[in-house]
Amino acid sequence: MRHSPELYVGLMSGTSLDGIDAVLADLSEAQPRLLARRYAPFDDALKNDLLALHQPGHNELHRTQLAGNQLARLYASTVNALLAAASSSSTKIKAIGCHGQTIRHRPEHGYTLQIGNAALLAELTGITVVSDFRSRDIAAGGQGAPLVPAFHDKVLRHPGSHRVIVNIGGISNLTNLPPNAATSGFDCGPGNLLMDAWCMQHLGKPYDDCGIWAGSGKVLPALLERMLAEPFFALLPPKSSGRDLFDIAWLQGRLRGGELAEDVQATLLELTCRTIAQAIRQYCAGATEIYLCGGGAHNQTLHRRLTALLPGSGVQTTDFLGVDGDYLEAIAFAWLAQQALQGKPANIPAVTGARHPCILGAIYPA
Ligand SMILES: Nc1ncnc2c1ncn2[C@@H]1O[C@H](COP(=O)(O)OP(=O)(O)O)[C@@H](O)[C@H]1O
Ligand SMILES: [Mg+2]
Repeated sequence: MRHSPELYVGLMSGTSLDGIDAVLADLSEAQPRLLARRYAPFDDALKNDLLALHQPGHNELHRTQLAGNQLARLYASTVNALLAAASSSSTKIKAIGCHGQTIRHRPEHGYTLQIGNAALLAELTGITVVSDFRSRDIAAGGQGAPLVPAFHDKVLRHPGSHRVIVNIGGISNLTNLPPNAATSGFDCGPGNLLMDAWCMQHLGKPYDDCGIWAGSGKVLPALLERMLAEPFFALLPPKSSGRDLFDIAWLQGRLRGGELAEDVQATLLELTCRTIAQAIRQYCAGATEIYLCGGGAHNQTLHRRLTALLPGSGVQTTDFLGVDGDYLEAIAFAWLAQQALQGKPANIPAVTGARHPCILGAIYPA
């Protein structure tokens, strides 16, 4: 017998600063059922405002709050359009799980900041909002990230095969799902964000479509070596990262001048692939199935290169498992909202480094 539906909305806007991934999902059964999805890109002005807030700057408290309000309005219009397209209504939705937009992630200082005015989002939609999922984990001594491994564990684990899920957003993170051992996971390093920034600087485009530009360049070994010397890559998990470390200044500091732009792009793609492959070899020994998700899964040059670096393990996208890799994280935040409303812990302490399981999120009732 089918359970009566439990409808949740998930909203994800990640470090890439590309826009909002929104889903409507029925979470009444063990496996989520995706009912509708919607993508709302950020316009250049909002993206630039958000980018600027990653750095200290004049009157940043005020600018942060205004950007949060603007995000809330965009989240709300996205939710309303999502529900209209699915012929659903706000009264049927238990909650929105809203990740918010990270503008600072500093667990070493005891905080992380995702903005998006959850109170305004609740007001504009008439739906309960759960947000600020990361702070409690940090309060318990964790990194507050990554949080998706718990969801990967729930929906993508297989009793007979050793799977690894690699989410390539602005930052890349992996989830290790060995059949007879505990789930682990951590941030590997830059996913797309350095490639995106370089592409914007040289081609005026937000990303390198399918990795064609990177594919036209040559990897620069000395540059790659300088980048791989970054201490973050050698840190033992738990670890997480963001634009706080990996930004265009990080890249500029490693250039020596005179490099061809396409060669730098090829080297950045190689960096993303090498750090992921190295993390899999080091921490996921014996993995036979690698599944990519996040926007980086569309980068075919990257997909081919990862396949070459990981002989013996098939590299597919999560779509192969029937889960839309562009919306997996948004579904995860819908699920995290359900966990919060049900009072269930949702972090994996072995992943984040928290001292104990925590109920994640702040609840803003409808
Ligand atoms: N067709 C494509 N070719 C190459 N890269 C792509 C393509 N589509 C999306 N991307 C990459 O994916 C990023 C968005 O990925 P996403 O999973 O939304 O990351 P985040 O969670 O950080 O927002 C884009 O900024 C871009 O780098
Ligand atoms: Mg995104």
